[in-house]
Amino acid sequence: MTLILGIESSCDETAASIVKDGRVVLSNIVASQHELHERYRGVVPEIASRAHLENILPVIQQSLHDANLTLNDINAIAVGNRPGLIGSLIVGVSAAKALAWSSNKPLIDIDHVQAHLYAASLVESNDQLTSQPEPQFPALGLVVSGGHTTLYQMNSPLEIQPIGRTIDDAIGEAYDKAAVILKLGYPGGPLIDKIAAQGDPTAYDLPRSMLKPGSLDFSFSGLKTALLYAVRGKPVGKGKNAIFKRDVEDLSNQQIVDLAASFQAAAIDAVIRKLKRAVNAIRSQTPELAPKSLVIGGGVSANSHLRERVKDFAKRYQLHLDIPAFAFTQDNAAMIAGLAHIHYHNNSFADLSLPAIATSKN
Ligand code: KG4
Ligand code: ZN
Repeated sequence: MTLILGIESSCDETAASIVKDGRVVLSNIVASQHELHERYRGVVPEIASRAHLENILPVIQQSLHDANLTLNDINAIAVGNRPGLIGSLIVGVSAAKALAWSSNKPLIDIDHVQAHLYAASLVESNDQLTSQPEPQFPALGLVVSGGHTTLYQMNSPLEIQPIGRTIDDAIGEAYDKAAVILKLGYPGGPLIDKIAAQGDPTAYDLPRSMLKPGSLDFSFSGLKTALLYAVRGKPVGKGKNAIFKRDVEDLSNQQIVDLAASFQAAAIDAVIRKLKRAVNAIRSQTPELAPKSLVIGGGVSANSHLRERVKDFAKRYQLHLDIPAFAFTQDNAAMIAGLAHIHYHNNSFADLSLPAIATSKN
């Protein structure tokens, strides 16, 4: 049996988790900082770093406590060291190094984006191991989060090649900005998801950006601007002198929920269309890489409409669907500890000079 302690602090969640044999999550502690960042309607890096510093050791202690374990029982310490906010990453990486050194355990460095693609393999108890099989490779990977909207050709959990990515906003960022436009609060994704259920997704015809024919890239900034104009009307004047004629306060509740539903339909539809394009292109151009599974991860994989649409898509295209349980969609350390299991068995360890890096390997 291998027990790995995972640590995650790349953005505004301080998290620690213990995972057994790469799949069974024994504890999963996430201290969210949403309340601290809410009034700024986005993550303030310095506030995030300070909060990580206060939370990191209590969160790690709690993860051991919840799993009924001590540090002695752990085989290795894994940490997400890239990509993310540098000041946030430094806190988790420093804690992981200090623990690894003082307890004489191996240290494993994990890429946060790769870890999101591993989250679908995690289960909450031993008996779910058989009912939730692992992805089959080759697979098509999709990370949809606040920082990423990327499609991957996956040959294994560690061999991933980006084949399409957003050229402007990430989809989660677009949700968060849409929630600002609709004055709903922060983070916007879950709030839009919730109210969209009461709205008419066909009420407003918002754009689904497909970019050039054949492109597997995404673009969400046009959708955000279209939503802004749908709410406020086109501005009169240009640049700093632009004046909008209306604002959210002038709309009815029904109009607001219809706008949320129409935004969500357009955002998710754009993703599904790109998935279709990707599968068709790979099947016809490189059949040896034709995906057997569709592997999804990242905060937006919690979205109810996305979950419904990808389920239909996978069925129609005869792909095995690997999408995380709700608890593992958002930033968490279980995905870090889970993926680290593969590195552990490959004897692929980091040394104590491990850096924190703002960008992803992929
Ligand atoms: O993966 P994550 O926790 O952090 C990053 O690595 O970015 O993703 C956070 C993003 C936020 O933009 C949040 O609004 C979005 O995921 N999100 C959702 C939902 N839950 C979280 N977006 C749409 N629908 C949801 N239910
Ligand atoms: Zn993330």
